[in-house]
Amino acid sequence: MEGLLEEADELAESFQEHPDVLDAALISAAQKVEHYEIASYGCLVTYAKLMEHEQVAELLGATLAEEKETDSLLTEIAVSEANSRS
Ligand SMILES: [Fe+2]
Repeated sequence: MEGLLEEADELAESFQEHPDVLDAALISAAQKVEHYEIASYGCLVTYAKLMEHEQVAELLGATLAEEKETDSLLTEIAVSEANSRS
């Protein structure tokens, strides 16, 4: 995660003079973070189920769904706005 955040900082610095591209770059960086979170929560849901902790699996599953929704919204913004300006 630290590497992903460092990469986002580098993108922000690289494209600070190009605001049209900056938005698209920052969205891509945010989506990498979301994908990392989706993979992590996905594994945790599986582990909770394997250990028969259904309530924990349900709570983690709700967070997993939120991460997926955020990723989906970022894709929508990228496709409908940010990338078309780039
Ligand atoms: Fe997230």
